[in-house]
Amino acid sequence: MMEDIENLKASILGEIQKANDLKSLDDIRVAVFGKKGEITERMKMLGQMEPEKRIEAAKELNLIKTSIEEELQKRKAVLEDEALNARLKSEKIDVTLPCRPETQGRIHPVSKIEEEVAAIFGELGFEVATGPDIEDQFHNFNALNMPLNHPARQMQDTFYIAHDKDAPFEMENAYVVRTHTSGMQIRTMEKQQPPIRIIAPGRTYRSDMDATHTPMFHQVEGLVIDKTTTLAHLKGCLYDFIKAFFELDEIPVRYRPSYFPFTEPSAEMDIGCLKTKDEIKVGAGNDWLEVLGCGMVHPNVLRAGGIDPDEYQGFAFGLGIDRLAMLKYGIPDLRTFFESDIRWMKNYGFVPLDFSSMTGGLSNTGGEAK
Ligand code: PHE
Repeated sequence: MMEDIENLKASILGEIQKANDLKSLDDIRVAVFGKKGEITERMKMLGQMEPEKRIEAAKELNLIKTSIEEELQKRKAVLEDEALNARLKSEKIDVTLPCRPETQGRIHPVSKIEEEVAAIFGELGFEVATGPDIEDQFHNFNALNMPLNHPARQMQDTFYIAHDKDAPFEMENAYVVRTHTSGMQIRTMEKQQPPIRIIAPGRTYRSDMDATHTPMFHQVEGLVIDKTTTLAHLKGCLYDFIKAFFELDEIPVRYRPSYFPFTEPSAEMDIGCLKTKDEIKVGAGNDWLEVLGCGMVHPNVLRAGGIDPDEYQGFAFGLGIDRLAMLKYGIPDLRTFFESDIRWMKNYGFVPLDFSSMTGGLSNTGGEAK
């Protein structure tokens, strides 16, 4: 009996050592201590023994039981450790990996310039106004001192849209896709009494196409009206704008007399630049570059907008966003702006989180992405 039980102990301990996972270890425990387990059976047998032998045998059996239990416990701890290590290894995360995928989308240079222009004029106290792309001729032409048959209408290569597609085309009643944002001067005056200080960015359309013209392009209109607004305010305002926009302390600026039916006097503003074979550098240089049209709002325009020209006066300007984008970000061909080529966007686009502000940076092209 004694020998038999020593052998049993040795074989059980051997099996415990061989158990490679918690499941097989538990199977051993059940085979030994379960209801019909090897040790349990032997415990049961004690009852049939003679009293003197029973005491001896029970003592022996209990010792073996304890050492098997200890061994099970030890092996269990080892296997639990191993299981935890294996889990930690398989669930390891590399904390140096970026926690989110890189921002994929890009902001189009035109949107970026619109943001920049709004940031600058916002600082100067202007509000942003928006209006429709499909415009009536009153807002696009008539109210801007350009009645039907006015020669200036020919300057603009207008796209007309039939007023009623089932009726014969009538020039007088046709709609247009706006040829400029100047209609927003009228729409603003209709809604609001002076003082007025707005910019109106948006799409504009003319029938024209080459490296610097596309049938759809973008402008920002500006309008300021108050009792004592003068040409000096126009010049100061646009000078501050252009310096802020190109992020330069000094830029040579000149105004050339010009003609727009809706301003009097009218001018075009040029900025100094240096033109080389393959680029234009804004700032000091021997060349000039036209950047915007401007002037004092014509009294007829104020009247059409319901404002008394004897009490109020103001200035207006219009600038081409696409042109400014080409200039500021060195993009050579305007037509590529609207080809929706993802490679072009990756190259010329802007990271969405780098928004423009006068304090945080306008173009904000720092960091890993352009
Ligand atoms: N609307 C003019 C254009 O498209 C620009 C302009 C706006 C000129 C406002 C003067 C004042 O060319």
